[in-house]
Amino acid sequence: MARFRSLAPSIIVAGLLLCASTGAAAQGSRIQADLPALKDVFAGAFSIGAAVEPFQLSGTTADLLAKHYNCLVAENVMKPAAIHPAEDRYIWFKADKLVQYAVDHGMEMRFHTLIWHTQNAEWFFRDAVGSDMAAETDPAKRAANKALLLKRVESHVATIVGRYKDRVVSWDVVNEVMDPNGPGGYRESSWYKIAGPDYIETAFRAARAAGGPGVKLYITDYGTDEPARRDALYGIVKDMLAKGVPVDGVGHQSHINVRYPTVQAIGDSIRLFASLGLDNQITELDVSVYASDGESCTSVPPELLVEQGYRYRELFEEFLRLKDCISNVTFWGVADDHSWLHNRPIPRRDAPFAFDDQFQAKPAYWGMVDPAKLPARAK
Ligand code: GLA
Repeated sequence: MARFRSLAPSIIVAGLLLCASTGAAAQGSRIQADLPALKDVFAGAFSIGAAVEPFQLSGTTADLLAKHYNCLVAENVMKPAAIHPAEDRYIWFKADKLVQYAVDHGMEMRFHTLIWHTQNAEWFFRDAVGSDMAAETDPAKRAANKALLLKRVESHVATIVGRYKDRVVSWDVVNEVMDPNGPGGYRESSWYKIAGPDYIETAFRAARAAGGPGVKLYITDYGTDEPARRDALYGIVKDMLAKGVPVDGVGHQSHINVRYPTVQAIGDSIRLFASLGLDNQITELDVSVYASDGESCTSVPPELLVEQGYRYRELFEEFLRLKDCISNVTFWGVADDHSWLHNRPIPRRDAPFAFDDQFQAKPAYWGMVDPAKLPARAK
């Protein structure tokens, strides 16, 4: 039986969500052992993943992980700045811990992310004397800088893929390289300013060379349901495929909210990329209870959690209809006690997942698992 937390009364005034406070996460709560496991419910359709920090691999979070999830991704410790902070220095122990945990628990491990413009290691963009290569204007120096950056990309990718290729199948090779308003649909990051779009191709080819045919290589981005962003990404991917660049799939981050975007738009994007013969993965799913940046509360009203349950139902019904085009759905967290959404876009209590901050199943869980158990919607 689901146990819903008792929640403080709330009121919505002029679009601003106001509510009274309740306590935060309780350590030592137990998981509900008798629930159907998410990974079993969706077995045969797609694997179910969760993003974690190494410290979450023990205690109740780990109990929930082991029961419901069969795929792991690093929330932060495999990003470039964390794993390769200096040209001659890799930091492996945190990433190793996650990979070993996945192996020990028979879980898939996704790698996130080889190349990104944020949480990036700035040394990539500095030349031998420490100057910012993105700011260089001299054509001869620009050509040398580009060659240097591509060599660095090759070495970074080959080293990391070489280390984990036998234990990691799905790789986010590049994350957020698209911008519909950027040149040719590319984000004008330092990567792009120094090397143009070639860094993307170089990263994919290096990943295939180091990982062999068994690794699955993804280009990931946010807002892939928005037509302009979707179409820009489509253009990039189509070009790469035409050039024989080894792209296996598209990762849709899917940081969405209770109202936006429509499930139709999410499905349309998945169908579009599938039409290129590509796999799709949902790589960072969370469903914020807030539909706008101005809303805030310290505990979320029950009727909103019920709304979220219906949203999850609709979403997973679509994912199941598209199961032949989707190999994995990964949540950007395990339970509501830990989520980047508690701090972004503003500090506020969010509740994006299937399990609450006491690790108990929410309407969101039942929306996915057994919609008949969803409470009635408020009028
Ligand atoms: C992006 C990144 C993730 C994570 C989230 C928010 O979606 O791909 O790695 O940083 O932002 O935390």
